[in-house]
Amino acid sequence: MRLLEFLNSPSDGSPSGAAVPHTSHFLHLARRFFASLSPTPLDQNETGWVRATLTPPEIALFDAMPLHDRRHALDVARRVDQSLLGTAERGDRRWMVAALLHDVGKAESGLGVPGRVMATLLAWVWGRETVAAWAGRPGVRGRSGLYIDHPDRGAELILVAGGPPEAAAWARLHQQTGTATVPGMPDIVRAALAAADDD
Ligand SMILES: [Fe+2]
Ligand SMILES: [Fe+2]
Repeated sequence: MRLLEFLNSPSDGSPSGAAVPHTSHFLHLARRFFASLSPTPLDQNETGWVRATLTPPEIALFDAMPLHDRRHALDVARRVDQSLLGTAERGDRRWMVAALLHDVGKAESGLGVPGRVMATLLAWVWGRETVAAWAGRPGVRGRSGLYIDHPDRGAELILVAGGPPEAAAWARLHQQTGTATVPGMPDIVRAALAAADDD
């Protein structure tokens, strides 16, 4: 089932998917931060579409995400669906799973929005690899490590749930800017996913 057929017109304030000028990047991040503090709950149509699109094990992963991640995932799926209008890729379940579950690894950290900001700052200061290696340690350091390592952890969760390998590959690679290819994924889809993900 195609997403746009389930949803109301995008008049709920969600971003249009337009490219963000780099000069306003920090303003954009600030806007995302405050939006994540009071996310819009998924309406009945959105919830119905998610349940019609994902398998039961994938639904369990989706439902394990906090509301602001579920709202972000749904918004990404909406933008990807719009981007693929008129292409042969539209309606392919694999690309919607990739959008809906790309950040699923974040849930394991249990960090709220302020904690995520702190983890991001730690990774900025110490480097992503150093902080990701803290995963498994107790306390805030361990949670920060889990959060920064969310691409790999999300990919594993998708594979364990029996999800599409292409969706797992996207989860693993989605934070890497300039990712040239994703195994099994047409470039038009990779570009649509990258443009739709604004975090
Ligand atoms: Fe992410
Ligand atoms: Fe994201």
